[in-house]
Amino acid sequence: MPWATIHKDPVPRTTPRLRDYDEECASFSWRAARGMLQGLPGGRGLNIAHEAVDRHAASGRATAVALRCVGRDDSVTSVTYGELARSSARFAHVLRGLGIGHGDRVVTLLGRCPELFTVVLGTLKNTSVLCPLFSAFGPDPVFQRMTLGDAQVLVTTADLYRRKVAGRRGALAALRHVLIVGEGADDLPGTLPLGALMADAADTFTIPPTSPHDMALLHFTSGTTGVPKGAVHVHDAAVAHYVSASYALDLHQDDVFWCTADPGWVTGMSYGIVAPLLHGVTVVVDEGEYDARRWYRILAEQRVSVWYTAPTALRMLMRTTPRTGPYDLPRSFDLSALRFVASVGEPLNPEAVVWGRDVLGLPVHDTWWQTETGSIMIANFAGCDIRPGSMGRPLPGVEAAVLRRGEDGRAEVADGRVTVLTEPGVEGELALRPGWPSMFRGYLHDEPRSAAAFAGGWYLTGDLVRRDANGWYWFVGRADDVIKSAGHLVGPFEVESALMEHPAVAESGVIGRPDPVAGNIVKAFVTLRPGFEASSATRRGLLAFARRLLGPAVAPREIAFDQHLPHTRSGKVMRRLLRARELGLPEGDVSTLEDATSAVTSTMRTEQPA
Ligand code: PRX
Repeated sequence: MPWATIHKDPVPRTTPRLRDYDEECASFSWRAARGMLQGLPGGRGLNIAHEAVDRHAASGRATAVALRCVGRDDSVTSVTYGELARSSARFAHVLRGLGIGHGDRVVTLLGRCPELFTVVLGTLKNTSVLCPLFSAFGPDPVFQRMTLGDAQVLVTTADLYRRKVAGRRGALAALRHVLIVGEGADDLPGTLPLGALMADAADTFTIPPTSPHDMALLHFTSGTTGVPKGAVHVHDAAVAHYVSASYALDLHQDDVFWCTADPGWVTGMSYGIVAPLLHGVTVVVDEGEYDARRWYRILAEQRVSVWYTAPTALRMLMRTTPRTGPYDLPRSFDLSALRFVASVGEPLNPEAVVWGRDVLGLPVHDTWWQTETGSIMIANFAGCDIRPGSMGRPLPGVEAAVLRRGEDGRAEVADGRVTVLTEPGVEGELALRPGWPSMFRGYLHDEPRSAAAFAGGWYLTGDLVRRDANGWYWFVGRADDVIKSAGHLVGPFEVESALMEHPAVAESGVIGRPDPVAGNIVKAFVTLRPGFEASSATRRGLLAFARRLLGPAVAPREIAFDQHLPHTRSGKVMRRLLRARELGLPEGDVSTLEDATSAVTSTMRTEQPA
């Protein structure tokens, strides 16, 4: 039984940016959209940092609040656009003074703190490339991404440096400088105190000429196999950030906007930093961790008007306020400033959309995009009806299609061509027509995987969808083995590789096991080497080992022992089969199994977690 359509608000508090979907799609052009940005003075190009801070600071909005940072201790610090323009100028000088220039990579390993904004914007001003890393990553993912990304500068805290980088510093060949935010640099050889460097730097900076096609951001993402992929984004992406925040988040300049995503991931960068600053709004930054009461308090006290969050977070809030029970917690806060709520990163269940309407007084608008797309591609809009459970419709300027799948589950490519499915309701791979400004420009140093992402004139997303007769898109699942856990994309290969570093592990296969709150949790099936016992103690040891190496967001939450992992004839572990068996689903086509009969007869010795 489909969920009833939620009709658009007949008397919205703020006139939506997108009022007539068809008309907007018909009249939209990216060329015209570029005109909404200013460009560097003197026609010297397009630079994200100029658009995000300097142009506001120079046009009478220097005293407008850019950031409202809520500390772990609940203290609130405000930073104006003028202050951000000056601090980012200082950081650009710091980089320049260290000999870091155009195209050089600056990696951040930081929590959600004001300094992060300074570093991001200062790096962009210097036309260097910013690569954010998630501060909850363990040493392995950090090392691997810094190596693959040719990190020349790392900006982090003393504690994170000590725990995650110092031990392998010598192996990071390209790394020239480590800048420490806050106290502690004096006790760490080979690091510099950022505060002292900033104090000596000038607070005005002339941004050098910047081509819209210059690399600006490097975001790592995961695939089914191989090392993480560094998706390259350019300064021109700002056009799509601006447009999408307008259409899909309905941002207006007087909004107070809170994106709960961590800036170590693409959502936290595109919509936690770049897009809202392009619009000149006030951005709420919470240094603390998720806590239902804390979050409602921030929404209320900061008078948040537009809120962008994740389905996992909403499901956690729903747990503390079940629809069938009292709504005491949210109702004890004044959420009257809130006027628009959206989510991203994983399927948004219809219950969550409706829960938003009932509890927050606002339905949740699902949006869809990826690291590679750089900005929102498909969305439910403020001025349109919502179909709960649907990701919505493509943004004006975005051409999407559903492609016929081949035997491997991905879009079928024959002689370089693909088949676009025009019939509604048929499942296929979601594809996008290249040409939007925030499209990634390839994976760094990985031409084969970059080329494989495109076929027949389309970018292939790896997501399976259906489109209904009215043009709305419905998410079906991934066409590959990557795992979405609490909104974070986890590559099974990365987890398997880390487990293999343990002396007890002969082989492993990693899958996502569905979870009612996190969407999926990471589960590993492990074959032990001779001499190791499939015991609770071994399991605990492996879980702790993986957590230490990978960090809590990536490490498996469950481990099962299996001395007979299913393999293809070419020797690869068949994760698809592991997942089917785990979920009690039909095993599907097992013709590539190394011994097809074993698919039926093998018994897995799966122990439940201790
Ligand atoms: O599978 C889709 C899922 O998240 C993937 C992209 O993850 P990532 O590159 O980490 O980017 C996160 C920022 C968007 C997609 O390929 N995904 C994203 N949005 C949705 C979604 N799945 C279902 N519904 C969504 N709204």
